[in-house]
Amino acid sequence: MGITYHEKERVFSIDTPNTSYLIGIVDAADPTDGSSADTGSKDTRARGNSSVCGGYVGHMYYGKRIRDVELPYLLRIDEPPYVPSVNQRDKLSFLDSFPMEYPTHGIGDFREDCMEVRTKAGHTALELSYVGYELQKGKPKLEGLPATFGTEEDCETLCLILEDRVLSLKVELYYSTFSDNDGIARSVRVINEGSEEIYLTKVLSACLDMDNKDFELLTLHGSWARERHIQRNPVGYGFQGVSSVRGESSHQHHPFLGLLTRGATQEEGEVYGLHFVYSGNFTGLVYRGQFDNIRAMMGINGSDFCWKLLPGEAFTAPEVILTYSAHGLGDMTRCYHDLYRNHLIRSRYKDRKRPILINNWEATYFDFTTEKLLDIAKEASKQGIEMLVMDDGWFGNRCDDNRALGDWFVNEDKLKGGLSYLVSEVNKLGMKFGIWFEPEMISPDSDLYRAHPDWAIAVPGREAGLCRCQYVLDLTRKEIVEYVWERLCNILESANIEYVKWDMNRQLADLGSIDLPADRMGELCHRYVLAVYELQERLVTKFPDLLLENCSGGGARFDPGMLYYSPQIWCSDDTDAIERLMIQEGTALIYPLSCMGAHVSDCPNHAVGRMTPFETRGYVALTGTFGYELDITKISEEDRNMIPKQVKMYHKFHMLISQGDYYRIASYADNHEWDCYMIVNKEKTEALLIYIQVLRQPNCHSRIFPCKGLSPDKKYEIFRYDMKNGEDTPFGSASLYGETLMNAGIRIESLWGDHQGMMLHFVEQ
Ligand code: GLA
Repeated sequence: MGITYHEKERVFSIDTPNTSYLIGIVDAADPTDGSSADTGSKDTRARGNSSVCGGYVGHMYYGKRIRDVELPYLLRIDEPPYVPSVNQRDKLSFLDSFPMEYPTHGIGDFREDCMEVRTKAGHTALELSYVGYELQKGKPKLEGLPATFGTEEDCETLCLILEDRVLSLKVELYYSTFSDNDGIARSVRVINEGSEEIYLTKVLSACLDMDNKDFELLTLHGSWARERHIQRNPVGYGFQGVSSVRGESSHQHHPFLGLLTRGATQEEGEVYGLHFVYSGNFTGLVYRGQFDNIRAMMGINGSDFCWKLLPGEAFTAPEVILTYSAHGLGDMTRCYHDLYRNHLIRSRYKDRKRPILINNWEATYFDFTTEKLLDIAKEASKQGIEMLVMDDGWFGNRCDDNRALGDWFVNEDKLKGGLSYLVSEVNKLGMKFGIWFEPEMISPDSDLYRAHPDWAIAVPGREAGLCRCQYVLDLTRKEIVEYVWERLCNILESANIEYVKWDMNRQLADLGSIDLPADRMGELCHRYVLAVYELQERLVTKFPDLLLENCSGGGARFDPGMLYYSPQIWCSDDTDAIERLMIQEGTALIYPLSCMGAHVSDCPNHAVGRMTPFETRGYVALTGTFGYELDITKISEEDRNMIPKQVKMYHKFHMLISQGDYYRIASYADNHEWDCYMIVNKEKTEALLIYIQVLRQPNCHSRIFPCKGLSPDKKYEIFRYDMKNGEDTPFGSASLYGETLMNAGIRIESLWGDHQGMMLHFVEQ
């Protein structure tokens, strides 16, 4: 395992516990280069043509672990040229089919590329040749960016150094491996070693250039309240993919690409994943070309991006996490879960049980006072809830969502006695206190805007468009970042605040900053994201015990970038248990359950008007962070009485859920009737099965379906968790071997009515 340079073959092998990634250097000046002896081909055109020289870096292989590295045929350098009658393979023929590790624009590789530049003279050709490499233990930080991390014992990092000799532009490609995980982290650094500025108009972070294996493309699509629904389509010729130009990773598309061999299931088929550790504009593209090759690429969106790189300066592109699974989607899921839990989330809360919170948003919206909040807190504390979160509406003149963003001063008309009184009263109840902020925004109707109308992102002379009645602060300006920071600290230091919900409720448009010169205006979106990262880095450094939850109009900035700062992210403003099945399935495809913000809310549900049993709402929220978002003083006695049982259930199962392995059994999004998944602890001594019957069929059989992830040789006692009593009760045959449960399956009777849920608990006997 690890990263090795095989000098004779000029191949880099990057080995993870179960995968190999091979990169080959092709330099026609060297007679051993590209000798495709083992292909049986006598064709020497690629080697013989000096115009092919230059040390190209080619992608040879990514897949299941292999040992051999002398595999020049994988680089396809001896493929015939376009016009077979011409027994000479010229440079453009070569470039148009060579599997390039990091393709660039303007030199004759006409497929989609990873990097584009513009010189002072207006030229766009960029040709990268191999210069050398560096191998190091550990994983260097990416300056100003979120990234996976590991110790010198955990990680190894390869840096391939490439250069455009004409432009004196150096490009470093980074690859890091983790001894306990199959993920590979890739990022790119560009350094201007010339004497003139260069404009970077596109710098993607990763590319996978390989043969098509009858791939399907899996992406996550959505909208507000419908985030991260799974979509699968065959990969056709040409371009397909996902992107965001909204200044955030977005509700609509997710910075993730899954390439699956056709029909891949949870257990079978090959799956490649690319996931971008970034929270702004992105592009994730798959290009299927003329020779049935595939290029999958991911990085910062080239639209609205142009970075001026002065001589001596460097630009770092955020990282992409690559995964490969030879055993279906399930292994990919568990690989990302482990990687993010162990190497991305930093918070002190990452392995700890989070306090069960009650948030007042769906309980009161803007209509609350100290008294109302304390009423909720008093009732909540009686039921075992551990933290009150005061949501939007506590500051300035914020009586609705039309005003006051930016005025981060406590509204003492609403909160009599101020924040310190409220917080100390909540603390007296034995509860923690948390608060909502939306620091990146400014309302036109705010004291802040009246004082600083130029602080909003806008194009001079053009009226900027409103979204939720607000503008976005121009965080590319230092003094604005300092204002936001000063207000955040002021509030957080004024009382015992132990949790922050950091919201972001609109997209970026009308891109203009009065501080950026014309040739740097294309830096605005990325600088904005960097400023958000800087603020959150300062926040978690200054307040290391703070529990930070990111949020963006629900889940519009649910991405690995945000996870680096907050161990949990609000999944969606749709808290309906049935809608959540699809949202949480798509989210859990990549993200550990410990980071999915999920609450039990009131019915009829505020997003869809649906009625679901309180019990079902509990099971669905349990497999996220778990909390409440309802007026606990107003719900029915029956529901309220169930809260202590749910609280008990959370304490009993949360560590298993947040640390265990996730297995998907059935998907409501696919079958439109029922949903089922399991969580198994690492030792395979304990497991949970959550079953939600969305629709009851008349005159139907019980369901018998296979469990997953158990140990075949262990015998498990089986219990059904009875939420009404808060106890495990023996279920069915009460104890069975894992092999029986996984092969013959477990039987679940049809439940009476729609939207019913149940949970089984397996414990090694
Ligand atoms: C966003 C969040 C909600 C709530 C509101 C407050 O929509 O996703 O949870 O905080 O803002 O305005």
